[in-house]
Order: sequence, then C-alpha cells, then structure tokens
Amino acid sequence: MSRRRRYEGKAKILYEGPEPGTLVQHFKDDATAFNNKKHDQIEGKGVLNNRISEYLFLRLGEVGIPTHFVKRLNMREQLIREVEIIPVEIVVRNAAAGAIAKRLGLDEGTQLPRSIVEFYYKSDELDDPLVSEEHITAFGWANPQEIDEMIALSLRINDFLTGLFLGVGIRLVDFKIEFGRLFENEMMRIVLADEISPDCCRLWDIETQDKMDKDRFRQDLGGLIEAYQEVARRLGVFVDNRPGDGSGPVLVSSK
Ligand code: TMP
Ligand code: ASP
Repeated sequence: MSRRRRYEGKAKILYEGPEPGTLVQHFKDDATAFNNKKHDQIEGKGVLNNRISEYLFLRLGEVGIPTHFVKRLNMREQLIREVEIIPVEIVVRNAAAGAIAKRLGLDEGTQLPRSIVEFYYKSDELDDPLVSEEHITAFGWANPQEIDEMIALSLRINDFLTGLFLGVGIRLVDFKIEFGRLFENEMMRIVLADEISPDCCRLWDIETQDKMDKDRFRQDLGGLIEAYQEVARRLGVFVDNRPGDGSGPVLVSSK
C-alpha cells in the first residue's frame, strides 16, 4: 500500500496516518550537520532514534508532559498525533558547548550559572537563526502565552531528563526540542513534538566525558552507532539490536 508522504525532513519522513489527525513518523538513517553541508547515511541510526525517542516521550508523558506520541509501530516508525508545528526550535543549555561556547567564548563543558533557554527560527534557508521573544511575537510565530508555556514545559523537560540521564551516568549538556499545537474539540494545547534522541542532544559520559551524541558525526569522531547503542542500553530500551526486556534503566553507580 502506498502511503501519502506529508513531509520529508533531513532525518525523518512524515506519512499520513491510519486515521484523520494522525501521522506516521519514520526515522531515516540520514545524518546531517551544519544544515546539510555534511551528509551521510549511518546504518541503524533511525532504528535507535525511534526507540530512544519513544522511551523518552513515554517517560515524559508519565510525569505529565503532553506529547504528540501515540505508539511505536515498528523498528523505524511511530504513530503520532498531527500537530501544527510552531516554527521555533527551543534549545535548553546546562553547560557550554557548540554555538554558545563559540558565541560567548566559553570553555566547552563549563556549567552555566543556570539553565538557559534559547529560541531559533526554524528555517533551513536561513540556517535556523537565533531569535528573541520579540521576533517570535512580532512575526506571529507564537504568542506570549504560548512562549511562556513552551519555556515552562522546556524547563520541566530539562529537569526530568537531567535526572534520568544522570541516573545512567550521562550528563545532559544541552538539547533541542520542538512544540506543536494540538487541536481537539475546539480546544488547542501546546504539546511536545518531533523527537528527542542523541541527534538533538549533547550527552557526555559522566566518568570519561566521552561524547555519546551527534557531535561524533559533526566532529568526525567515529563510533556514532556504538555511542547511540550505549545510550539505549543504559536506558534499558535496546540491547544489541534486540528489543529491551522492559526492565527499565540500567543504574550506574556514581563513584
Ligand atoms: P548548538 O550548540 O549547535 O546550538 O546546538 C545546541 C543543541 O541543539 C545540541 O544538542 C544540538 C541541537 N541542535 C539540533 O538538534 N538541531 C539543530 O539544528 C541545531 C543547530 C542544534
Ligand atoms: N540539524 C542541523 C543539520 O542537520 C544542524 C546540526 O544538527 O548540526 O544540518
């Protein structure tokens, strides 16, 4: 059966879902960086991201974060609620790395005075420029109430994920998330959308400081799949290409 393709991004495809108001989110093996200037296929990445993102969205749902996730369909696909994506990427930073380290001249790994929330306008042509709340409201990408809601949810997501990853020996340095508007019964809610995977987070091993995220690809460090597999293994979601046993996170004792 051929499915209608709704949208194709750099790492995912969205197909029309089985019922109105649903979509199928398909994770590809494509890896891109620096807005597609660097592009490769990394076999198995889509499968890992599908599993890791499913796990994180389920756990976030359990603590009351509304999300677009419905259920995993197969190795590469999940059923999601169709939302209107707000064209603003939210980056939450706990320590300096990547763009902020460069922009403000900070040493990579320096803990920030507090968690910092940044907004980037979602535009491939413009390379996702950093924007302020003024730009977001002036251009009508989101209203002040929606911005407040996104900041509050982002900080809750950060607190929860920081603790979750710490429990498995991983430092959550920063991450990028997206939100969408979910319309139901004349009501509109802001929900977490897109994905949360090592493609859009910086994850460092607590002990060794090893990078366990897409910086392995951006910086040509190699071993990306092994690193993503290790993240999945520690979370207890995926072992050696086989489904996890459902026993949950593998606790790593802090020395
Ligand atoms: P940055 O330091 O390059 O701004 O990235 C901050 C975090 O956001 C990092 O975990 C990677 C993630 N990110 C994306 O997922 N997509 C993007 O387009 C960018 C620029 C960053
Ligand atoms: N997501 C962007 C890209 O794929 C930038 C990045 O993640 O480095 O090009």
